[in-house]
Amino acid sequence: ASSEQSQLISLYDQAAKLYTHVLLNTEMGQPALDYLHKRGLTDDIINKFQLGFAPGEQLLKEFFDEKKVDYQLLRRSGLFIEDQQGKLRDRFFGRVMYAIKNPQGHVIAFSGRVLNKADSQAKYINSPETKIFNKGNVLYNFDLARSAIRQEKRAILFEGFMDVIAAYQSGVMNGIASMGTSFTNEQIYLLQRTTAQLDICYDGDDPGQAAINRALDAFSANSRLQLSVIEVPNKLDPDEYVRQYGEKQFSEIVHSARLTPTAFKLDYLKRDFNLSNEADQLSYLEGALKEISKLTSSVEQDLYLNQLAKEFGVQVQDLRQQLRQVHSQQA
Ligand code: CTP
Ligand code: MN
Ligand code: MN
Ligand code: MN
Ligand code: MN
Repeated sequence: ASSEQSQLISLYDQAAKLYTHVLLNTEMGQPALDYLHKRGLTDDIINKFQLGFAPGEQLLKEFFDEKKVDYQLLRRSGLFIEDQQGKLRDRFFGRVMYAIKNPQGHVIAFSGRVLNKADSQAKYINSPETKIFNKGNVLYNFDLARSAIRQEKRAILFEGFMDVIAAYQSGVMNGIASMGTSFTNEQIYLLQRTTAQLDICYDGDDPGQAAINRALDAFSANSRLQLSVIEVPNKLDPDEYVRQYGEKQFSEIVHSARLTPTAFKLDYLKRDFNLSNEADQLSYLEGALKEISKLTSSVEQDLYLNQLAKEFGVQVQDLRQQLRQVHSQQA
């Protein structure tokens, strides 16, 4: 590694250790520690994931100044915000800090969450891109999850850091998250080198479901990954589900409630229609057949045709006939 990169890695390592120390061992960290304890995290988990707290002071600035760290290096580190006069101050303050690591387990960035969300503040702010951090290349928790992903032969993709951590506490250790919803080729490459199967377990709320729908399209267009969907009940996110229903029940839905992409899509499509009305039923069936027509296996096609026939009280032969028409329209 270039010396600039190893110097930055060293700065982030020291910053992460300081943030964790402040969280676990100081008075100013106490409110954040209480917050995390209330959310169900133990000190072991806090250490494992190197969670921390950035207090409302120039903590890092003073720490690195004392160590006589080069001003230009600090400027380029992304840990500070520079004012008009070129004066640096801590970028993160009053936030719970999530350490973002590279696949080797080195801290390369942070995401900071507000303790108590006021409307004016962003819930999360992230480190800017630097010589060691490219947001699009990062898979949160990949360093810890890699061996579990190999063992389980699958990775589980969550929306948020807390979801990954709650899953980990539930014994589901093959969880990762991106920082934002669009996936880059680098992230796909990293995943495909490790596994052939990806389970998408986004939040159960409407934005989460819409994101699943988009992710299925994006992954099937841009990757060779076999996909499935794990749906979290009651519009909860995985972390909320673990806290309400327990770790055991969460690990059960992860292992048993897997939908194929088509099953998810057929269900998701229902949102657009009022299925108590016959015209809508017909339109829904049309959309469903379009989805089924994308499948390459006729056995799979038959499976869903039979389900639809049963559900809507129509003849499966008629659906098959109409499917052929969909095919010929697309040809
Ligand atoms: N996110 C972000 N900036 C925001 C909101 C969300 O970067 N203003 C990212 C974070 O990585 C976050 C993920 O999107 O973890 C999912 O967002 P959300 O579901 O709103 O947050 P949670 O992970 O559920 O966070 P928490 O449980 O702490 O509220
Ligand atoms: Mn406490
Ligand atoms: Mn969400
Ligand atoms: Mn969430
Ligand atoms: Mn959450």
